[in-house]
Formats: sequence, structure tokens, C-alpha cells
Amino acid sequence: MRCRLAELLTAQDLVVELGRDRLRAVDGVSLSIAAGETFGLVGESGCGKTTLARALLGLQGVAAGRITLAGATVTATGRAGRAAVQYVHQDPGAALDPWWRIGATLAEGLTIHGVTDRAEQQARIAEMLAAVGLDPALGARFPHELSGGQQRRIGIARILLLRPRLVILDEPTAGLDLSVQAAVLRLLAALRDRFGLTYLLISHDLGVVRRVCDRIAVMYLGRIVETGAAASLFAAPRHPYTRALLAAAPHLDGRESAAPPLSGDPPSLRAIPGGCRFHPRCPIAIPVCATTAPAVENVTAGHQVACHRWQEESPHA
Ligand SMILES: Nc1ncnc2c1ncn2[C@@H]1O[C@H](COP(=O)(O)OP(=O)(O)OP(=O)(O)O)[C@@H](O)[C@H]1O
Ligand code: SF4
Ligand SMILES: [Mg+2]
Repeated sequence: MRCRLAELLTAQDLVVELGRDRLRAVDGVSLSIAAGETFGLVGESGCGKTTLARALLGLQGVAAGRITLAGATVTATGRAGRAAVQYVHQDPGAALDPWWRIGATLAEGLTIHGVTDRAEQQARIAEMLAAVGLDPALGARFPHELSGGQQRRIGIARILLLRPRLVILDEPTAGLDLSVQAAVLRLLAALRDRFGLTYLLISHDLGVVRRVCDRIAVMYLGRIVETGAAASLFAAPRHPYTRALLAAAPHLDGRESAAPPLSGDPPSLRAIPGGCRFHPRCPIAIPVCATTAPAVENVTAGHQVACHRWQEESPHA
């Protein structure tokens, strides 16, 4: 069998249920991340992005579906089967022990992964702090003695020390000033090239995703509604939700958008609408949308969408 080397991580029809009431935070998600690319996952707060990431990491069990890593099925292996996949926490402060000096936290990660020689630990930590643009002397500080941008860099250094292949970056620029955001994104691009990394970048900010991602998946209420190359998704979005997110995103190409703003709060996973989940907020919904969930269809080979009306001329073009 010819191996499709390009695929580093795939998910097929993944379902994740949370809590006693089995809230379906991920409901039939399929995606494929190619080695070396930066794959963006966008969607509003609460749509299931972090839950999906945790399932891909093996930190969260799945109710159904299959995950493969470098061609091997890892769905049932838990975290142990996925050392090559590491996660940069949505809240970098929370991922650092407030009572431990930075250097001790970094050394602990190496110890857990079998690097116990103290001199080797120190050398690798100093090298990695320099790689993320920090003075190795910062290793002597406590987390609260660092700025938000420095904490981000420490979070990145911590997981890169473990030499992962795929790094899941959960909201890597949230809470940072625009200039610090730009610096972090530049750093991530440089690290990707230097260490041959693949990224899954999670964000609710389409501006961030547009700047750095090769391909993008748009998530709504536990499902992926559109996937495509960043260029085609931004140039010709097919799903009304993608269009609405684009219309709402600041700092895009400066063109005025005629799309109406997205109305209402994102609906709750506890009361998922029937038919197309987006229909209560969709500006172009038709009766069938309330009763029948749209299938995922190919717009082109690399561009998929789930909407009954995707083939019609965009009413907002
Ligand atoms: N352990 C849990 N038990 C029950 N429900 C949970 C649990 N963890 C998360 N949820 C719920 O699952 C849904 C999806 O949460 P998730 O954190 O995956 O969203 P998200 O897209 O990452 O949001 P954000 O952009 O705010 O980080 C939310 O409604 C959340 O309240
Ligand atoms: S299927 Fe219907 S409700 Fe859903 S996005 Fe398409 S047009 Fe809107
Ligand atoms: Mg999240």
C-alpha cells in the first residue's frame, strides 16, 4: 500500500461526549493535518475547539471515531501513544506552577520524558530559551515575574523541549497586545521552520489564522462546517457562518463587507438546533435547513462545505 506521507494526523468521524449528561462537544469531526503545515481551527467560544484538541492529544476519550498519527491508529492508546503531539495551553499562566522557578518546571518536563542528566537538561533548557528569544537567566524567575508575552514563550519552550512533531497551539495570542501578538506569530513561524514542526492553531480570531495558516477548518457547535486552503476560504467562503466570521473579523483586507453581522449568542451545546445547527442564525436559511442536516460536499478537491445552499451565488458577494 502506498503511504500518504503527507498526512501526519487524521481524525475520522470523531465524537466526544462530556460529563454525566454526555454533552456532545465534538460530533462527527473529520480532519487531516499534513506534515509541515499550519492548520487553523476557528469558531466561537464554546464550540468545542479545546475539547477536540484534547481528544487529538489523547487526554480525552472519544465515544466514536478514529485518530491516526503518522499512519498508525492511536484512538485507544491514550496519551502514551501520542508523545509526538504536544499542547500549548490556552492559558499559559495556568500551565506553569506558580511555586516553581521556570527552570525547574522546564527540567521537570524533561525528567518525565526520560532526560534525567542534569547537565544535559541545563544545556537543552538554555538552548531552547534562546531559541524562543528569551534570556536563559529568566529560568531563575517565578511565573508571576514574567510578562504575558514571556509566559507564552516559556509555554512554547516547555513543549519544544520534548521534541514533538505536531504542536497544538490553543489561542496562542489571546490576551496579548497587538505588537506582542505579531512577535509571537513570527516566532512560531521561525520555530516551525527550524524544528520541522506541524501546527494545529486554534483561535477565535480569523485575523490571526489568516496571517499564519495554510489550511483552515471552521467549527460550529461541535461540527466542522467548512474546510479549505486559507487563500480560497478567505477569497471565496461558501458557508454563511464563515462569511459572518469574516465580516466580523477586524484588520482583514479593508474591503467593506455587505454581510449582515452575526446575530445572537452562539447557541448552547445543551440545546442543539435540529437540521442545520446554524439555521437559527443563518441569514439565508430556507425551510429544509430546519429539518435536514446538510452533508459535507466538495467545492473543489481541497475545499469542503456543509450547507444546502453552497452552490448558489453568494448573496453577499
Ligand atoms: N469537562 C466538561 N464537562 C462538561 N462540559 C464541558 C467540559 N469541558 C467543557 N465543557 C463544555 O463543552 C463545550 C465546549 O468547550 P470547549 O472548551 O471545547 O470550547 P472552545 O471552543 O475551546 O471554547 P473557547 O473558545 O472559549 O476556549 C462548552 O460548552 C463547555 O462548557
Ligand atoms: S444549510 Fe441552510 S441554515 Fe445551514 S448554513 Fe446553509 S443555508 Fe444556512
Ligand atoms: Mg478553548
